[in-house]
Amino acid sequence: MPGRTQEALYREIDLELSWSEDALPQTERTKHVHRLHPYLGKFIPQLVETFLGRYFSPGDCVYDPFVGSGTTLVEADVFGADAVGCDVSAFNCLMTRVKTERYPLGELELTLRGALEEARRDVGSAAGATPWLEQWYAPRALGELLAYRRAVERLPAPFADVARVVLARAARSARLTTHFDLDFPDTPATEPYWCHKHRRECRPVEEAWKFLARYTTDTVRRLRAFASLRAGREIVVLHGDARSVRLPRMPTGVVTSPPYPGLIDYHEQHRYAYELLGLEDRRADEIGSPAAGRAKHAQRAYVEAMSDALDNTAAQLPRDAPVLIVVNDSHDLYPVILENAGLLLEERVTRHVNRRTGRRAGEFFEDVLVCRAA
Ligand SMILES: C[S@@+](CC[C@H](N)C(=O)[O-])C[C@H]1O[C@@H](n2cnc3c(N)ncnc32)[C@H](O)[C@@H]1O
Repeated sequence: MPGRTQEALYREIDLELSWSEDALPQTERTKHVHRLHPYLGKFIPQLVETFLGRYFSPGDCVYDPFVGSGTTLVEADVFGADAVGCDVSAFNCLMTRVKTERYPLGELELTLRGALEEARRDVGSAAGATPWLEQWYAPRALGELLAYRRAVERLPAPFADVARVVLARAARSARLTTHFDLDFPDTPATEPYWCHKHRRECRPVEEAWKFLARYTTDTVRRLRAFASLRAGREIVVLHGDARSVRLPRMPTGVVTSPPYPGLIDYHEQHRYAYELLGLEDRRADEIGSPAAGRAKHAQRAYVEAMSDALDNTAAQLPRDAPVLIVVNDSHDLYPVILENAGLLLEERVTRHVNRRTGRRAGEFFEDVLVCRAA
């Protein structure tokens, strides 16, 4: 919508879904478990909160076929609804499970601190490092991450999974990258560099301890804050493909934001986690992956894949179920996708998206497709 006056623009967008930076600062958008680990392409939790209030009731069951970092499931629990989520990325499922699992928090905190101490006594061996890890970490940082990984392997479930997310988050921060390019680093930074973020010369990170210690404390704090808000509903996370997954129960409706064609590589953005945690890699099943390119045939493949995913979703819903899909549909692919999937479009509202993390300038807009299952 370039070139519109502010007034004309505001007539076309849903202001209740379009927050200004002042009204909704970063701390609110990344409150409690929503920032257990950075994630590109996340819902604003307040958006899900508004959808749940408009289209669902406490006691319902909300399904998100592209659950990502779990925003829908977290907010559903606060709202008082059960929730089911599916994602093809094993790391996203791990993150979502860790956010939504319930823990004895005192014991969790002691266990995580114990793992840190144990790892401190065990640094030294770089056994198990992959070529990618050796390329992206200073030797000291890698030794610390691998020592922590050995300590994590001895923890009981579900504490081990929380520690795996701490490890992944520390590994993200300890990569040999510049401070301003944590989202999409191309090549390891091995020399001091001029930092656009801090406006001074900075050095690539050499250690991982400070991150492991900081994120241990932060993770427990965030889980505690969420525990005090949750209704304690049933949450199920399925590692699967939205085109074929079978749901364990019939949901009341859907809240989701699918991958957009050619924008984000959801496996690659957490490569460090796959390398360190040995998670199953299903990138070949990722819909809209940039690896498929931007050509017409990639767009056709996207339309086919999303049609199948939404068709499989709609087939497991009751008639008239609300299906809310947040899209950046700059190629106008969704009218066809919805028709293929047998979803009836009730309303298409536009929302003004705030700039989020990273250095990507400019404003942009998203559409919320309010549909009903036929
Ligand atoms: C835009 S993100 C969802 C973000 C989510 N709303 C959140 O707040 O974190 C899209 C998600 O779709 C997942 N995805 C891609 N292809 C998929 C498939 N075939 N089946 C299930 N999930 C898939 C990606 O891994 C990614 O996590």
